[in-house]
Amino acid sequence: MWPITQLTDLLGIKHPIIQAPMAGSTTVELVAAVSNAGGIGSMGYAETLSETIREDARKIRKLTDKPFNLNFFAHDTPTNNPDVVESARERLRTFYSEAGLSEMPHDVSKPLFKFTEERLELVLEIKPSLVSFHFGLPGSDVIESLKEAGCRILCSATTTAEAIALEQSGVDIVVAQGWEAGGHRGSFDVNHEDHGVGTLALVPQIVDAVNIPVIAAGGIADGRGIAAAFMLGACGVQMGTAFLSCPEANVSDAHLEAIRNARDDDTRLTKAFSGRPARARKNNYIESIAAHRLPLPDFPTMYTLSDPLIEASDGALDFRFLLYGQAASLNRELPAVELVQTLVTEAQTLLQSGGRSWPKIAAQGAGTVV
Ligand SMILES: Cc1cc2nc3c(=O)[nH]c(=O)nc-3n(C[C@H](O)[C@H](O)[C@H](O)COP(=O)(O)O)c2cc1C
Repeated sequence: MWPITQLTDLLGIKHPIIQAPMAGSTTVELVAAVSNAGGIGSMGYAETLSETIREDARKIRKLTDKPFNLNFFAHDTPTNNPDVVESARERLRTFYSEAGLSEMPHDVSKPLFKFTEERLELVLEIKPSLVSFHFGLPGSDVIESLKEAGCRILCSATTTAEAIALEQSGVDIVVAQGWEAGGHRGSFDVNHEDHGVGTLALVPQIVDAVNIPVIAAGGIADGRGIAAAFMLGACGVQMGTAFLSCPEANVSDAHLEAIRNARDDDTRLTKAFSGRPARARKNNYIESIAAHRLPLPDFPTMYTLSDPLIEASDGALDFRFLLYGQAASLNRELPAVELVQTLVTEAQTLLQSGGRSWPKIAAQGAGTVV
């Protein structure tokens, strides 16, 4: 049924489609629907409280008996250099006054969203089939404990070197995240020069360099992207942006509207909101911060300064942080189960016909156009 079955065999699933974890946008309904459709649903967690995570897992298990993934960040502790924080404050003052905000937060010690000992105990209690990390990995003892508990470990890599390091650390599956991807780059070190390797170049090089299953991510929006990922040697895909248009996703009206009008060139990588590079819809704030090339406080400290601006956004005052990838204009507004079925039909028709037949399923699920 699928040309490479490494992932489906390993996880005992029908379709090699992982709905990407997207902190703030994924819901238990989305996750359960994708897992029930034969793929893997993923919850993205950042600052979510442990009790909420525990409750979410209970709800997911009520909705599905299939495997699902819980995702966490594994970034470095921010250094919060006072000079950098102060110069960012200075720069942001103009935007604060534009937004009619007088007070800038004094305390920049935002919760760290880190994978703490308490988080580990919680995940060991929940024992999901999959646990994934972004921005690198927590310590080797954490990985060992999770694996001993029977969890499979996934982590994003944005270069071949990162993928090799992940394999050496005992990760089971590597997610090759190309430059096109929506959301934060999974790069381990934000201070290295990011050459922005695209999915088409990254996937085959990682496939050649490691012996663990490789999942392609970034700019994959329909069956053509999935079929292409298999041709590059991936054994599955992780798709985020495509699932933002499902009714089960937690997406604001402004976000959905931006995706409806999306173009291939209307996003850019920005540190302006979180302190880490993320692909988001361009706006004046993002462009202005990029133009000044000012060092910004580390992730996630920068959120403390940008959150009030995001909240003040209204109509023409646009400081919104709308994350999506370069292929968003290909999105279909379909319930998650239908989206997975559509993707499977498209990809399999292409793969079986040697690429000759493209069963484009029209937007809004209106039917099949060959
Ligand atoms: C809105 C949004 C939020 C994201 N949040 C996370 C996250 O919390 N954890 C994570 O590992 N990846 C996150 N990502 C990145 C995805 O894992 C994945 O790399 C990306 O969605 C793939 O590219 P695509 O959006 O073009 O499909 C996010 C992506 C988006 C679009």
